[in-house]
Amino acid sequence: MTSTTNHYTFGETPIAAQRLALLAAAYQAASEAFLARWGPCRPEHAIDLGCGPGHTTRLLHQTLRPHRTTGVDASPRFLEDAQRASKQDIGFVCHDVTQEPFPTAPADVFFCRFLLTHLHDPGTALRAWAAAARPGARLLVQETAWLRADHPIIARYYELVAALQAGYGQSLEIGVDLDGRVRSRGWKILSSRLAVVQQPAVVMARLHAMNMRTWGRDRLVQGSFDLDEVASIQAGLDRIASGEQPAHPVSNALRELVAVAE
Ligand SMILES: C[S@@+](CC[C@H](N)C(=O)[O-])C[C@H]1O[C@@H](n2cnc3c(N)ncnc32)[C@H](O)[C@@H]1O
Repeated sequence: MTSTTNHYTFGETPIAAQRLALLAAAYQAASEAFLARWGPCRPEHAIDLGCGPGHTTRLLHQTLRPHRTTGVDASPRFLEDAQRASKQDIGFVCHDVTQEPFPTAPADVFFCRFLLTHLHDPGTALRAWAAAARPGARLLVQETAWLRADHPIIARYYELVAALQAGYGQSLEIGVDLDGRVRSRGWKILSSRLAVVQQPAVVMARLHAMNMRTWGRDRLVQGSFDLDEVASIQAGLDRIASGEQPAHPVSNALRELVAVAE
């Protein structure tokens, strides 16, 4: 049975925070190029949705130079890290992004990276964001459409994490059919394309091994996954991450969607 409430499967442990720092470094160039191309210059107010420890918030702030920038996340622990690492000119608010009303001023740009994949009802969230938008506001989304690895350990990891997310009503590869989910939720699509990013296997294996150390303890994994297999994939990822086991780069297609508030 799938869940009907939001559950962030990747956790908010110290190792999860370290993973988000590595993730931010790995995807910084792709996100910076996307924001610079589609973000309005010097907007009044920019919101980073599901900001985590604030890496994307600082990137948004530096790239578009908004008069005001706010990071929104449901994790008080990540928000503490975010506030500590950011200058005073960035604000952070604890809020479930699927809930209206937003406890922020209306925004004219929203950035959403690797968040919709974690929501069981992205449509409700998209409506809530439209309600928090100024007329003509821009929504900039980057979400995974697919991940391809020819190494069997990494490929199997993707099957396992997809099954875990599906158990919570979420989609690992939500970028595949995002356009249909965005339409009629208060947003008009301006552009939607796939950008394929090649990531070194050592980097991806390290990210995934860290992630597995968090979600391996999830109750759904503990109750219904083959735990010997989980341990063996974990060990295999560690070998690839250390360079002991060579592997080809991973291809990650990102859905880069730009929409305007209707
Ligand atoms: C994979 S992280 C991405 C963080 C950041 N956007 C980035 O790309 O580095 C997903 C973030 O979404 C947050 N999150 C998940 N569900 C949420 C919800 N319903 N409301 C607010 N934040 C949520 C998590 O706490 C986590 O910080």
